[in-house]
Amino acid sequence: MCGIIGYAGSRPAFPIVLKSLRRLEYRGYDSAGVAILNGGGSLHVSKTAGKIADLPRDDLEHAGATAIAHTRWATHGRPTLQNAHPHTDGAGNVAVVHNGIVENYEALRADLLREGRVFRSETDTEVIPLLIERFLERGASLEEAVREAAKLLQGGHAIAVIGAGAPGAVIGLRIGHAGGLVVGRGAGESFLASDLPAIAGAVDRVAYLADGEMTVVTAEGAACTDLEGRPIKTEWRIGRHDPAAAAKGPHKHFMLKEIMEQPESLVSAMRDRVDFNEMRLDLPGFLFDAARVRAFDRVVLLGMGTSYHAAQVGRLMIEHLARLPAEAEHAGEFRYREPVLTPDTLVVTITQSGETADSLIAMQEASRRGAAQIAVTNVAGSEAARLADYALFLNAGPEIAVASTKTFTGSLLCLYLLALRLAELRGALDAGAVAESIHALARLPEQVGRSLAAAGLDEVARTYAHSKDFLFLGRGPLYPIALEGALKLKEVSYIHAEGCQAGEMKHGPIALIDEEMPVLALAIREPPNGPGRPRNGRLHDKMLGNIEEVRARGGRVIVVAAEGDARTAEKADHAILVPEAPALLAPILAAAPLQLLAYRIAVRRGCDVDQPRNLAKTVTVE
Ligand code: M6R
Repeated sequence: MCGIIGYAGSRPAFPIVLKSLRRLEYRGYDSAGVAILNGGGSLHVSKTAGKIADLPRDDLEHAGATAIAHTRWATHGRPTLQNAHPHTDGAGNVAVVHNGIVENYEALRADLLREGRVFRSETDTEVIPLLIERFLERGASLEEAVREAAKLLQGGHAIAVIGAGAPGAVIGLRIGHAGGLVVGRGAGESFLASDLPAIAGAVDRVAYLADGEMTVVTAEGAACTDLEGRPIKTEWRIGRHDPAAAAKGPHKHFMLKEIMEQPESLVSAMRDRVDFNEMRLDLPGFLFDAARVRAFDRVVLLGMGTSYHAAQVGRLMIEHLARLPAEAEHAGEFRYREPVLTPDTLVVTITQSGETADSLIAMQEASRRGAAQIAVTNVAGSEAARLADYALFLNAGPEIAVASTKTFTGSLLCLYLLALRLAELRGALDAGAVAESIHALARLPEQVGRSLAAAGLDEVARTYAHSKDFLFLGRGPLYPIALEGALKLKEVSYIHAEGCQAGEMKHGPIALIDEEMPVLALAIREPPNGPGRPRNGRLHDKMLGNIEEVRARGGRVIVVAAEGDARTAEKADHAILVPEAPALLAPILAAAPLQLLAYRIAVRRGCDVDQPRNLAKTVTVE
């Protein structure tokens, strides 16, 4: 995941930002860079396509007391020196580091090229300094120019800027939900960072920027405004140097932190795999070539608990995109039924830990029977990664809370990438359809951020925190999410919850429905002309019918529906609105708010959310 550092003070900035940058190394990166501004307004930039230790440091040690720095995980453009941040404007007066994806960068780039501006990298980020330059040329101050440029960016962003026009200042900005920015104050100096641990120990007060907030930090202090330049009161907190507290950032629990960092962890899962410039997909090291993939006649997806729910969604992705017969089953019983597997069966095992006994035993069975194997896991070097022919890593960063959250959506995203790749290799999707899916992927991190900010979640948590039971309904790719929503709720809040295929409800579970029973229906409509199959129009109409069935029996209905879908929202007592998405990506947008709902309910009930009773993060017994 990309990391951002900013420093404004009176000490030489280079060693300070370098130290903070090193603390972000654990997030993983492929290149790094620093820009230093001296009191006279001159900029010095140093970059490497390697490790932080390789950064050229000639003349930088004492080059100035204001700096920004970055570790990059490539999304747009390869991990090269040219693509490393910071990026500068044409005149070399402004330097920018950035986390996020500029969703409309193609249109912005075309505008800037028409103005005669020159791009020196393949990144989406470079549009930012060039836009700032445009507004500076029109007479804006650096602060105004950053603000005007920011208003043109679509997607979620964390940005830090320094420039000749504002010696001694670092401008920080957050838009949307694709990554945070924390401001820190020390003695006579200020910091910016994407992650608190990077500056913990150097600061005694911290404040987190919210969506649409901008800050100008100097040696003297930090002034925050909104994107219209109106002042905002900074909410300072004590910046304790407690590694555990620092690791949680602004969040009370690891589970909350991990839920909220999904916009970033999803970007990480796409890193090196999705090329948003060329609209191409690649799985580096994927050892199955087109002939081998065409020979596969069946895919078996395995997992336990949350990972089994990911397997169920993955089954639909592979079937619909790659047109390969696919089935999902619990890893725990796989070997006991003497499964029929051949070298042309592809077994895909999902296990975030890579060490779940049930899943490993199933993988051993698959190896014994000669099947081809892929592991979808978060842990490099895990047993599952070693057993598989190919490991597809989630790259989600460590997940500390026992309940799987970011690793679930990471698994879904990796399975989607796998399904797309299999589809390409089998010739089941043309380049246009793949490009359409990649466009949808570019929007996904920001959309997940929006679904986590959905209004209505708090009210639902407050209203139903003391319910005894909960029913979750879903159809198609949202049915496994109903199962996962129920699992998450019972794991952390100890409320009895069931997930049910909505069409199945009237065959039994409907007997449970009365005024005491909250029923959460996943009813996200697909946008017209959305990419990827299946279209969910018919399933959506059926779901509306199921909601009516619940209402007719006095049940309390909560819907998770698409923004703008008033018809669905009106049918419910409560609506949680999430962005519209293609049917096969909607599970990711639906899962995130259900995790947050489970968390909020559990906190209201006083449960130990990070370490729920009786559960372990890695279950190493059958
Ligand atoms: O590490 P794995 O993904 O293989 O773990 C599988 C399950 O034990 C796990 O998903 C479990 O259900 C979690 N408690 C889910 O939050």
